[in-house]
Amino acid sequence: MIPPAVALRDLRFRWPGTATDCLAIDRFELAPGERVFLHGPSGSGKSTLLSLIGGVLSPSAGAVSVAGQALGTLSPAARDRYRADHIGFVFQLFNLLPYLSARDNILLACRFSAARRTRLQRAGCSPALEVQRLAAHLDLAPDLLDRPASALSVGQQQRVAAARALIGQPGLVVADEPTSALDADRQAAFLELLLGECAAAGAALLFVSHDSRLAARFDRVLSLTELNHVASDSGVHP
Ligand SMILES: Nc1ncnc2c1ncn2[C@@H]1O[C@H](COP(=O)(O)OP(=O)(O)OP(=O)(O)O)[C@@H](O)[C@H]1O
Ligand SMILES: [Mg+2]
Repeated sequence: MIPPAVALRDLRFRWPGTATDCLAIDRFELAPGERVFLHGPSGSGKSTLLSLIGGVLSPSAGAVSVAGQALGTLSPAARDRYRADHIGFVFQLFNLLPYLSARDNILLACRFSAARRTRLQRAGCSPALEVQRLAAHLDLAPDLLDRPASALSVGQQQRVAAARALIGQPGLVVADEPTSALDADRQAAFLELLLGECAAAGAALLFVSHDSRLAARFDRVLSLTELNHVASDSGVHP
């Protein structure tokens, strides 16, 4: 049986130097290929949760598994490799390297991951060809690929960031408010492209947004305030 793309068990997380838990989630699963829309007020812990799922942060207690691998059992170096191999991130501010071309920003995800290169090889595709295919699907004109990322519009940078997350078919794509810098039409168009690419690759998608208009396109809508019993408890006992 294929393990869930993400599984959380009895997760607790407290930021160092703070008196209360930021997150307390007893159980959560994201099925393989499932697309989930996660929302919650500012400061409710959405980005913190994504960092825990990416193994960038370690839980204070409990377990995070990605594609059946418990992240807590890996050394920090092995966890970094696992993240590079299996998770594509799209951040709110995209985190592109400004002086590198769009193409090299996308290829970087393959440089850091032998598993992504191997998956592409098995599919009979070179990284260079896959950049071209993704760029075409994400509506990025070929001449944009040779420009430094700093010379692209916000919407173009966003699509480069999506291509970087998707290249080499990671089983999980995690997106943290990737559309907040765009107008409504462009948001919807970007979401269609991202959903289409995830579906084609069989990747699960965990998508964080404040914009509930986008929620209808997902398999499941999840409120972090409902999932996280720290947030609801703190409302009852201020
Ligand atoms: N490095 C840090 N050290 C201590 N506390 C932090 C740190 N980063 C975030 N927090 C706290 O953790 C809580 C959750 O923050 P987080 O960034 O996960 O919220 P969010 O739901 O992503 O908010 P937003 O919608 O504004 O992006 C907040 O109370 C925040 O102040
Ligand atoms: Mg956030």
